Amino acid sequence: MNKPEIRRAIRQRRNQLTRRQRQQAARQLLHTLRQAPHFQYASRIALYLTNDAEIDTAILLRDLQRRGRQIFLPVLHPLKKGHLSFLPYQRHTTMVKNRFGISEPSFRHTKATPTRFLGLICMPLVAFDGTGNRLGMGGGFYDRTLMFMRKSGHKPALIGLAYELQKWDELPAEPWDIRLNGIATERTLYRFG
Ligand SMILES: Nc1ncnc2c1ncn2[C@@H]1O[C@H](COP(=O)(O)OP(=O)(O)O)[C@@H](O)[C@H]1O
Ligand SMILES: [Mg+2]
Repeated sequence: MNKPEIRRAIRQRRNQLTRRQRQQAARQLLHTLRQAPHFQYASRIALYLTNDAEIDTAILLRDLQRRGRQIFLPVLHPLKKGHLSFLPYQRHTTMVKNRFGISEPSFRHTKATPTRFLGLICMPLVAFDGTGNRLGMGGGFYDRTLMFMRKSGHKPALIGLAYELQKWDELPAEPWDIRLNGIATERTLYRFG
């Protein structure tokens, strides 16, 4: 199957989860992530607000805030087309809707942090496989934004968040596709090289 077909199949699967299953998985995801050293100790952590039936991140957000971590959310880059930028997020942060209808911190009120200064980026995905390949919604935003990681230097750890049912045997990987260091699901933490 090609990328669009896999996206369709998995999103269909994900849409069939009941409310109860979603709530339970979201709670279990926190337990899984606690096994990841970066989740426990990184001081700057990028998360995302749940969209399109993705696994709920609200519980993680509260946990990290309680533990005094600095949270960042992705924002469509105002100048670099197809790139993301990461803005700090707190309870009082002014939010605006981007062109996809997703809430993001307002660029007018806060300053972005260079992506390389983040300790951990938790990212959404449509599908993952057993070697750390990630299939997104098809915009390639994270791929472009994280291209700098191919060079040496300080790099954030990359962990995808997903339901176990988003696992796919072998995803088609293209040259620009970024590989993840781990995937956290309601069942387990997958770690890749
Ligand atoms: N680093 C990059 N430079 C230029 N174009 C890119 C880059 N990464 C991704 N793209 C473009 O973004 C599009 C979507 O990428 P894809 O990997 O299919 O999406 P996703 O990662 O969201 O699943 C591709 O058609 C590709 O041409
Ligand atoms: Mg990709």
